[in-house]
Amino acid sequence: MKDEMMDVRKKDHIRICLEEDVEVGSTGFENIKLNQRALPEVDLKKVETTTTFLGKTLNAPILIEAMTGGTKQAKEINSDLAEAAGKLGIGIEVGSQRAAIEDPASADTFSIVAEKAPDTLRIANLGAVQLNNGFGLKECEEAVEMIGAHALALHLNPLQEAIQPEGDTNFAGLRGKIKGIARKLSVPVIVKEVGSGLSREDVKALISIGVGAVDIGGYGGTSWIMVEGYRGEHRTSEVFKEMGIPTAKALLDIKDMKIPKIASGGIRSGLDGAKSIVLGANLFGMASPLLKAQSKGGSKGVEAYLKETIKELKIAMFATGASDISTLGKVGYELNHSTFRSP
Ligand SMILES: Cc1cc2nc3c(=O)[nH]c(=O)nc-3n(C[C@H](O)[C@H](O)[C@H](O)COP(=O)(O)O)c2cc1C
Repeated sequence: MKDEMMDVRKKDHIRICLEEDVEVGSTGFENIKLNQRALPEVDLKKVETTTTFLGKTLNAPILIEAMTGGTKQAKEINSDLAEAAGKLGIGIEVGSQRAAIEDPASADTFSIVAEKAPDTLRIANLGAVQLNNGFGLKECEEAVEMIGAHALALHLNPLQEAIQPEGDTNFAGLRGKIKGIARKLSVPVIVKEVGSGLSREDVKALISIGVGAVDIGGYGGTSWIMVEGYRGEHRTSEVFKEMGIPTAKALLDIKDMKIPKIASGGIRSGLDGAKSIVLGANLFGMASPLLKAQSKGGSKGVEAYLKETIKELKIAMFATGASDISTLGKVGYELNHSTFRSP
């Protein structure tokens, strides 16, 4: 059944992310200095950004992060994002598919992504908390099938749900439920945060229950606390707006942990992306900058923004003597701030 409230909320989220300043704090990337080489022994024109993630080959280690679906406007956005992802051979994740599971008439607002980007990495998305609201393996498989996904991301956003007046706040027992899905689903499960960051303890728990990858979703980019503030929850938003693990710190905290990793939350350039790979990420993801690029220039605008990001990534690789992504992962760095004390 169609949930009118959800439609309104989705439209609000897009409008607020486009029109208001919803970024607070910092990701910490500004306090990471990559070891630069004056004698890189690399030809910039031959720098190679190809990589693989969960068995899929990508032309660059970039993911268009989960944003939307479920409405007419969302279909247009997904279509433009997917067209750019397909052209550039990078990954794309859709927004929460709950709306289309509950009202299959809106499934085309998500499946457009498979039409426009048939050959690249596609990731389905649902809120993990829905596993406490009647969703199970069947609904997860439906989400995967809807876009022919290569993985399913289950998002964790407890702080946002707590601040949202209509939020789902029963996060008890989710670990066991995610474990059940990760065991039986036809594709790997990725668990992601949406801007407050996964902690070392979280990632340890997720590895122990057989999750296929994590998306760190750290603090410093789009703040859902701020977004909910603009939707009316001013006082709670002010109190909690600085809570979260900065993206660079969250990555450093799990650098030694062996699980495929996506870096996201405030990544705003190819240099931020390069730093995230140096800190152990396999891919880096961006959401809000691509929503803004789409709003201004459609699919061409998204493509242009991503091309610029890839150019910056290549320059960062060249300047650190990394001719490919696996060499970039081994580049040295310095930390120049106390944000980075061990957990
Ligand atoms: C308009 C908008 C809608 C979003 N919707 C979802 C969603 O449905 N599911 C999800 O996992 N993340 C969602 N996100 C969070 C992003 O995937 C990402 O984790 C977060 O915005 C941080 O990235 P950024 O700083 O580059 O925007 C959304 C982000 C934006 C901007």
